[in-house]
Amino acid sequence: MSTFEPVALDVNGLFEHMAGSGGLSEGQVEGLFPRVAGILGELELGRQGGGLPFYDLPYDDAGCARAREAAAGLAGRFDTLVVLGIGGSALGTKAVLDAIVRRERSASGIEVLVLDNIDPSTFSETLEGLDLERSAFNVISKSGSTAETMAQFLVVAARLTERFGDKGCCDRLWITTDPENGPLRRLAEDVGIDSLAVPPGVGGRFSVLSAVGLFPLAAAGIDVEALLEGARFADRRCRAMELWNNPAALHAALLYLALSERGAGIHVLMPYSDRLYRLAEWYAQLWAESIGKRYALDGSIVESGQTPVRALGATDQHSQVQLYVEGPRDKVVTFLRVAEHGSDLGIPEAATPLQGLSEASGYLSGHTLGQLLNMEQTATELALAGAGRLSSLIEVPRVDEYALGQLFFLFELQTLVMGGLLGVNALDQPGVEQGKRLTYALAGREGFEDAAQRVKQGLAAKRSALVLR
Ligand code: PA5
Repeated sequence: MSTFEPVALDVNGLFEHMAGSGGLSEGQVEGLFPRVAGILGELELGRQGGGLPFYDLPYDDAGCARAREAAAGLAGRFDTLVVLGIGGSALGTKAVLDAIVRRERSASGIEVLVLDNIDPSTFSETLEGLDLERSAFNVISKSGSTAETMAQFLVVAARLTERFGDKGCCDRLWITTDPENGPLRRLAEDVGIDSLAVPPGVGGRFSVLSAVGLFPLAAAGIDVEALLEGARFADRRCRAMELWNNPAALHAALLYLALSERGAGIHVLMPYSDRLYRLAEWYAQLWAESIGKRYALDGSIVESGQTPVRALGATDQHSQVQLYVEGPRDKVVTFLRVAEHGSDLGIPEAATPLQGLSEASGYLSGHTLGQLLNMEQTATELALAGAGRLSSLIEVPRVDEYALGQLFFLFELQTLVMGGLLGVNALDQPGVEQGKRLTYALAGREGFEDAAQRVKQGLAAKRSALVLR
């Protein structure tokens, strides 16, 4: 059973009292506060005017109830729910499943698998391993037309129809898409497939707290209400206009200064917890797609962004950290750590045959692995500071739904404030759409003749001498 405690943000490592002349000053941060306050004011207006519907997700009791009801409908009929979706339609669900369900059997008895990529070996291996009789499929696509998801859907539907007939196929499908528009919505209505709605105006990477995440997570036995409660708590915290008390706004301001004043074009998110590693993958999409923009809102070319990188502590201490401490000063690292790991596996005294190791390992006995992991995080933080490198630290009391709900919402709000500081639209993704159009063109989809022309020109520009075979 989870208990509620706030996530803590420690920004010491971004300031000069820790990182020396590489660090930021309080004056610099406070100098930015009027702009940040202006952005918070605009966000509040947008929210009240209904222009930012993702803000409403933690309060959408009806949406949550619908997701739970649909999940309850799976019980007894199915052992597995397979999510077919990619990007924002998959990453949040994967993050929660990996943090909470992991190897234990899910609380509901239903195993939820997420198939986002279309690598044929993984996809067919997973399908072969399913008991189709006992498997349901949740096709998730906000647009209802993403090539990867459509391709997966076609493969699955062909198998289901072959085995169970048209009705048997449709009985095993749940569609999550726009409530009114798009090919998947039309299909769900025409054929009578059960469906859930992604509220209009909620983009993929901001949708984990909608039916996109809530249905499969409820099916896996995740406490989705606690997830939303955590998000509501973060929302209340991040409405503070006293910016030293507003973690999302403060962190965004500091990351912006790290980028603009210290050249930190790379943001490393480094959980010291295997269970939070997939959260770093979710965050990477959020940060990359939201602030990586060619155009500012005023139409000028800015080519803004801060490249998200995920690293894992302590593993990457023995891989990446050398670069972070001594390489180019182009990074700011945010550590994520867990106060209570939920397992206090202690490190024992050396067993009799290992007595010879006592000098090299005796100091470890009496600590737990979780304590050692957290010591490693502190050591890395101090090593970075000692080398004049920037870092911040987010500590969660434990990995549970409350903490994840807080983290999702904190990071989403931080992203909106960063978008405001960079002067870009954090909610669109024209670069992603461009890639989708070129894929449609390559695959011969009607209506994409212009894109097909670009593909042709692009491929014709290649020189065969530069392809080494
Ligand atoms: O954040 C986004 O909007 C994108 O990354 C989408 O989630 C991704 O492209 C999948 O799109 P869709 O849900 O329309 O299939």
